[in-house]
Amino acid sequence: MAGRVAGKVAIVVGGGQTPGETIGNGRATAILLAREGAKVVVADRNLASAEDTVSLIRQEQGEATPFRADATREADIQGLVATTVERYGKLDILHINVGASIALGDAPADEISEEVLDRSFAVNFKSAWLACKHALPHLRKDGGSIVIISSLAAWNSYPWIGYKATKTALLALMANLAAAEAKYRVRVNAILPGAMNTPMAIEPRVAKGVPREEVIASRDRRVPLGGKMGTGWDVGYAALFLHSDEAGFITGVSLLVDGGEFITAGSQGT
Ligand SMILES: NC(=O)c1ccc[n+]([C@@H]2O[C@H](COP(=O)([O-])OP(=O)(O)OC[C@H]3O[C@@H](n4cnc5c(N)ncnc54)[C@H](O)[C@@H]3O)[C@@H](O)[C@H]2O)c1
Repeated sequence: MAGRVAGKVAIVVGGGQTPGETIGNGRATAILLAREGAKVVVADRNLASAEDTVSLIRQEQGEATPFRADATREADIQGLVATTVERYGKLDILHINVGASIALGDAPADEISEEVLDRSFAVNFKSAWLACKHALPHLRKDGGSIVIISSLAAWNSYPWIGYKATKTALLALMANLAAAEAKYRVRVNAILPGAMNTPMAIEPRVAKGVPREEVIASRDRRVPLGGKMGTGWDVGYAALFLHSDEAGFITGVSLLVDGGEFITAGSQGT
């Protein structure tokens, strides 16, 4: 199959999605990678959600396999990488999409519980480190690409400490690995999405009691470019580029996908 990532084997960690009306970043990325010729292992702790992504890919005659993994557990990640290599013979692309804030009970630093802080660290940071640790021996064989989904929250003000701290720590992981792995031709980059209209961002705020129209309108207002949030596809296309050979000389980059929010410094961080 021809395509921008033709012949490559990819893992998308967190490739299912939070239920909702729009497409998530991880699902959109998995679909685009498959559409452009990659074989994609869609890993999620929610197997049914990974299976939904895989059936969307198969509807387009793409090649994908669902896999149940809790990304905070080392044994699950080891199983994911081993199964991928066993099934498809190699690994070229690791895409790390798992992340959550409000859904974990995130809170300001003077209010957050120890348990929620530990959970936030495990879900947002430890999961990414584990995936890199176990994917790297395979990625090094023939060069490869890692993209870690951080957040504009790493650079802008953001009210809740778990997400803020762990999304910043992911940039340190990215920089550390980009420097260390360059000699193996493994590129490591991060994407910092701004306000995206994905269920992960909208549904927990609606569940907290804020009317949906208000959640959407206040997030739209933050975005200079067209006054509208981005979509999962915007993150997916940025990821597709970074994972493709078109980005063959790009490593150690933190790529904003935020419709100009950071450069105008207009965010209230909510
Ligand atoms: N939507 C936004 O506005 C926005 C902004 C900035 C950054 N982000 C980042 O984008 C990423 C998520 O985007 P999305 O729209 O695909 O979210 P999503 O919630 O739709 O998808 C994330 C998937 O990860 C899975 N997951 C959660 N914990 C897991 C675990 N421990 N093990 C395995 N799977 C797990 C979930 O089941 C879900 O299917 C996150 O890293 C998030 O922080 C989003």
